[in-house]
Amino acid sequence: MMDWTDRHCRVFHRLLTRKALLYTEMLTAPAVIHGDRQRLLACDAMEHPVALQLGGSDPNALAEAGEIGVGFGYDEINLNVGCPSDRVQEGRFGACLMAEPELVAACVSAMKERVAVPVTVKCRIGIDEQDSEAELQRFVETVAGAGCRIFIVHARKAWLEGLSPKQNREVPPLDYARIYRLKVSRPDLTIILNGGIADLDEAEQHLAHVDGVMLGRAAYQTPYLLADVDRRFFGSEEPVVSRAEVLEALMSHIAGHLDRGGRLNNVVRHVLGLYHGQPRARAFRRHLSEYAVKEGAGLDVLLEALRIAEPSHRMIAAAAE
Ligand SMILES: Cc1cc2nc3c(=O)[nH]c(=O)nc-3n(C[C@H](O)[C@H](O)[C@H](O)COP(=O)(O)O)c2cc1C
Repeated sequence: MMDWTDRHCRVFHRLLTRKALLYTEMLTAPAVIHGDRQRLLACDAMEHPVALQLGGSDPNALAEAGEIGVGFGYDEINLNVGCPSDRVQEGRFGACLMAEPELVAACVSAMKERVAVPVTVKCRIGIDEQDSEAELQRFVETVAGAGCRIFIVHARKAWLEGLSPKQNREVPPLDYARIYRLKVSRPDLTIILNGGIADLDEAEQHLAHVDGVMLGRAAYQTPYLLADVDRRFFGSEEPVVSRAEVLEALMSHIAGHLDRGGRLNNVVRHVLGLYHGQPRARAFRRHLSEYAVKEGAGLDVLLEALRIAEPSHRMIAAAAE
């Protein structure tokens, strides 16, 4: 999710679930080709499985960017056909491409020729006046014809003019049934449903109809829900990791980041919601928001936040001795 997630966030989420597929925020093909690749694409070995999401509409550029991404170890290349922001429309990226299924198909074909990992598409159920079920079917048929086997479908249309990107994630109504019917009509394709899923109970209900679900905001804002994913959906028998264990494990990642000159807040901004719904959630969040942003902030800030959230946690007791 642009402006929200990054590799530190994925490391944190990976400490909560070993199995769920993680996605990068969208990177445009020109940025991948011409930008600082190390900064944009470097991923930690523990992030896998992780998909790189690309934005663009030039088949050659997308193919090149996909190849570069695979060189960095990404396990899947995903094309964004769902983002409605103006900046993105100007370059003909994102949701406006739903009006051009043949072009999306050409992009998928070009990428598939150059990469050996799955090439997938994330789209909406429609855009603007082009929002009939038949048009969604035609879009999927055309892109599947180019070899895309996995579609992640956000269950809302996007209004490209008149609504902000934020409104486009909230205002158009969710239509899950349309995605369920897409799966019925194309049982051979892997259909992943996205949009408005608040918790794992809701996820499970959708999984009776589709092959997978994608969580965006809920995973970011209430990340601890990810801790139950492996047992519930992947048959894991490992005990559910505790919040404190996650923070402890994150500390070695943070130490490395600080050693390389990084700032504490680059990592801990993603953990603010870890105690969501717990008695000391607000104090935990407040402590980190206030102190992690300070120049030179170190691991002691996170240790103190953990002590605030879980005063009797043994690591704190040991640290205090
Ligand atoms: C801040 C923010 C940034 C987002 N950036 C992206 C993005 O880069 N690529 C993408 O496919 N979707 C992006 N989205 C959309 C989400 O992936 C998702 O489709 C949408 O929020 C609906 O799912 P949710 O209700 O589970 O959040 C973004 C959403 C938010 C809130």
